[in-house]
Amino acid sequence: MLREKITYLDNGATSFPKPEGVLEAYINFSKNIGASPARGGYATAIEAGRLIFKTRLTLAKILRVEDPSRIILTKSATEALNLIFFGYLKPGDRVVSTRMEHNAVIRPLRYLQKKGIIEVLWARITEDGRLDMDNFIKLVQTSGVKMVVTTGIANSTGVILPIREIGKFCRDRGIVYVVDGAQMAGVHPVNVERDSIDVFVFTGHKGLYGVQGTGGFFFAEHVQIQPLILGGTGTRSELDVMPEEIPVRFEAGTPNTPGIVALGVGAEWVLEKGIENIHKHKQEILKIMHEKLVDIEGVRIFGPQDIKDRSAIVPIIMDSLSPQQTAYKLWQDFKIAVRAGLHCAPHIHNDLGAEKGTVRFSFGANNTIDDALYAVEAIKSIASEC
Ligand code: ALA
Repeated sequence: MLREKITYLDNGATSFPKPEGVLEAYINFSKNIGASPARGGYATAIEAGRLIFKTRLTLAKILRVEDPSRIILTKSATEALNLIFFGYLKPGDRVVSTRMEHNAVIRPLRYLQKKGIIEVLWARITEDGRLDMDNFIKLVQTSGVKMVVTTGIANSTGVILPIREIGKFCRDRGIVYVVDGAQMAGVHPVNVERDSIDVFVFTGHKGLYGVQGTGGFFFAEHVQIQPLILGGTGTRSELDVMPEEIPVRFEAGTPNTPGIVALGVGAEWVLEKGIENIHKHKQEILKIMHEKLVDIEGVRIFGPQDIKDRSAIVPIIMDSLSPQQTAYKLWQDFKIAVRAGLHCAPHIHNDLGAEKGTVRFSFGANNTIDDALYAVEAIKSIASEC
């Protein structure tokens, strides 16, 4: 039963391997094109700009954004979230977020709160790891709330949040709704118009099957954001201030063009395969993991105990080993790659009594049922030794 090859089950951190064509596009750009986009009138510079636009267009299709220039490209979801918080929030603003966020949301909001600039209200989690909607709604109804920030899919449990319901609730009250879609883009269908999402943040290297160092966000026209990074855009060089035009207003500096080109190919692959089809495949894996893991003595699944509204993230806790010990054994004895610990999401683990965190299996489109069965056998074997 022992596999020679690596069984990669850490797609929540970075999807791997990438679909065919993604890395080839990265290399082809670097080798054969290589120029800076929007910074030259020669053919390869124009081609660089065209390829970036192509990626923007594909991302716009995935998020159902009509105007691709409203897709801003950054180096990560973290950078995008910082840009939004620092570029939108004003002194005295109140923000509602949740206890299931990860540090890309927690840390900048806490920083702004500690500086006395904003107030943040964190909505509770239910005992089984879902968002406590009653508490959440109550907080959103507090006076002075200007922004609501929730994850789309919790990276610690895979819980899918009711973003459409939340979006409508916020839109009716004129509150800006920001979705941290780091785990959601390419994993779950999103339609920013229909779901009343004002800002949707994504990363390139997870469910969009691009490479690390890519990400971005969509923002609606009525959301007035100031840029975070100022500098050259290759356009309107006569101005000594940032141009008003989007997307360049938010994209100062030479971008990660090979990464963006590769992201475009990954995102096209997702579109071709179909998000619903990928989701369906991963749901089958999730079902098997749940069914088999609940029968193993000494193993607990963290978060909701059913697979309703969950993505293919399966966090477990073993009674007799720490998450780090379990992950170490999975790697050493079975060549299974997983993430262990708090997954940059300290609040939820603290609230649900898992201060040491969990061992997180997170599945990608390229994983198979066999991968799941292999992981279950590995956990069974580790549990039987303890
Ligand atoms: N990238 C982090 C994860 O692994 C947040 O979920």
